[in-house]
Parts: sequence; structure tokens; C-alpha cells
Amino acid sequence: MHNIRKITEDLIYIGANDRRISRFENQHPVPNGMSYNSYLLLDEKTVLLDTVDKAVGDLFLENLHAALKGRALDYMIIQHMEPDHCALIPRIIELYPQVTVVGSQKTFGMIQQFFGLDLAERAMVMKEGDTLQTGAHTLRFLMAPMVHWPEVMVTYDETSKWLFSADAFGAFGAINGNLYADEYDVDFDLMPEVRRYYTNIVGKYGRQVLALLEKIAKLDIQMILSLHGPILRQDMHYYIDKYSKWASYTPEEKGIVIAYGSIYGNTEKAAELLAAKLADRGEKNILVYDLSAWHFSYILSDCFRFDRLVFASSTYNMEIFPPMENLLLELKGHNMQNRAVAVIENGTWAPQSGKKMRQLLAEMKDMRVLESEITIKSAMTPADDKALDDLVELIIAA
Ligand code: FEO
Repeated sequence: MHNIRKITEDLIYIGANDRRISRFENQHPVPNGMSYNSYLLLDEKTVLLDTVDKAVGDLFLENLHAALKGRALDYMIIQHMEPDHCALIPRIIELYPQVTVVGSQKTFGMIQQFFGLDLAERAMVMKEGDTLQTGAHTLRFLMAPMVHWPEVMVTYDETSKWLFSADAFGAFGAINGNLYADEYDVDFDLMPEVRRYYTNIVGKYGRQVLALLEKIAKLDIQMILSLHGPILRQDMHYYIDKYSKWASYTPEEKGIVIAYGSIYGNTEKAAELLAAKLADRGEKNILVYDLSAWHFSYILSDCFRFDRLVFASSTYNMEIFPPMENLLLELKGHNMQNRAVAVIENGTWAPQSGKKMRQLLAEMKDMRVLESEITIKSAMTPADDKALDDLVELIIAA
């Protein structure tokens, strides 16, 4: 009665879904839950690749016990020490006291910090390119610092051409029965949450992700097994191409995000008008977001996707309307760069939001703010409408 899945005769999926979680990292909404993946290799030696979040700890331990079928656990490979994967390390050591723990140098320092455990006696410290022979399989370890923490390493099975990729190529959302990405409607059901996961969780570390992509470009890869979301076994180039774009802050395609912070609807009206005018001029892929209604993670994700961004904000307490300020700070924190940007401000007696938004945008790299000054004073006027027409031309030309 265990929900363990045979990937091959000697590789078993023993992870689990948490559908009760509301916010991943206590921050990002995950309406479709979250999967915490873990894999067990049944070679001459038995090898566990990562544990899970404590929310699904009991399920995971039952799965592991069932999958081992009475065998001992020889190795536990720790690719990432964030608690959504490492929470069960102490329990594994209690239950399988002979296990050897495999990780990077920094992994063992973090185990000490999180759990007060000194594993020197049972540690196998891996450096770039080191291998572990487990019988028929040879596992090679590639260091992937800052994808997404400094201790991260990924594991390449040279025998079966599998890449265990830690957080890389992961997704928000539970696994819905189908274990493989090719069994989903990828663009509709999967990619939005692959993108939102990458951009919000790892998006800041583009340079380090590019370094990992360069390493794996040399490998023959038959499957990519992330710690979140379905397994990739087809169209790997599609995902790798998306990752290359996100990591280099290159837009995936032409499109416009219009994000607005509006108190009584006047700034909203300008945003809606702008969207309609752009559409009338033939622009496609226009996404309009009310920042008071959407969590920033969705908008940040689409800012990575599209090439042009419009920020329209009321002035509030002589500052940017807080939901807009939060979005801009998150974009800056995630290294957002290389976009054409337009700014619209509103204010009844002392409009300030435009100047302050420009200041924040100037702190980001290569954000090309279009030369247009749209200052709405309380409500749209015919002159503002004309200014929107001019802005449309600038956005189209950008
Ligand atoms: Fe899925 Fe960075 O932890």
C-alpha cells in the first residue's frame, strides 16, 4: 500500500506530495501543492538521493522502508541542505545507523548547524568530478554552488545517463500521478510553474546556473530527475533552452507585462487603456496585473518571460504604493535586468511614485526606462490619453 514508483528495475521514486501547504518557503503561494522528490537506487549498494520536507516525513520513511525490501541502506547522497530536502537526515541516521553520508564539503558544516550532528565518522566528502561506484552504476558529482545554496551538488549517473539535478529543473505543484513531464500539457499545466519556481527561487543566481548548464551541456542525458516536480525524459533541450534564457535574463519572447498599483481605480484605468491601445496596434502577449490581487511571484515570473514591462503606480504616503514598491524590490533582489520599461505615476497633490520607481529601476542592471512622462493627477484627462498614445509608440519601438 505504498505510493512508490518504479522508474526502472533499479531506480525507485520514493518522494511524496504535500497538498496542504499554502506557501512554499512560507512565502510563495502553491495552490497545487508541492512535491518533494527522493530516489532510491537499488544497485549492489543501496543509495538514497536526498530526503524530503518534514511535512511528508512519515510517508517518505514508509516508502523507503518498503522500497528497500529488507536491505540495508548503504549511502545517503545529500545534494542540497535546504530543509525541504534535508529534514529527515537525523531520522535516516537513527533508522539506518550504518549509512555513509555523501555530500560536498559545505554540506557537513550545514548538517552540524541544522542538527548539531557531527558526521565525520561516516562522511564521504565529494569534490568536483569525484565518483562513487555502487555496483553497476558509477555516480559522478558536479558542484553546483548557488543553484540554489552554496553546498549544492548534482549527481550524474554515468551508467544510465541520468542527471539528478537537485533544485534545478524543478517546479511548484504536486505530482498528479503522472511522474514524467511528457505526460502533462507542458505549456499549459507545467511550464508556468516551472518558470515561477525557477525565477522566484533560483532566479537571482543566473551566473551560477549558466555555469551548471555549461557543465551538463557536455553530458549525454537520458533523464533529468529534480527534487521538485515531474521527471524529464523527453525534449530536454526545451527545458535547457528555457533555463539558458532565464539564467541570462534574456526574454523568452515578445510580450508586455503591465503591472499596476491602484487605490481607487484611476491608475487601473490608465493601465487598462494602455493595454487596449497596445492590442489595437497589434501587440500580443499582454498581461495586466493588479498588484493588490496577485502575489508578486506570478508577476516576477512573467517579467522573466517578456521583453517589455510597464509599472503604473499611485503615490501613497509620498512613496510608491506599497504593493508596487514590493514588486520592484523583488525584481531587484532577483537580479532582473535587460528589459525596456515604462513608468506611469499618479498623485492627487504631490505625485512622487514615478520618480521613486525610476530610482529603484536605476539600481537594476540595463533597465531601459522609456522617455515618457505620464503623470496622472487624480484622474485621466484627454492630455493623459494622448500621452498614452505616445507611450504606445515608444513601447512598440522598444
Ligand atoms: Fe527545494 Fe532550495 O530547496
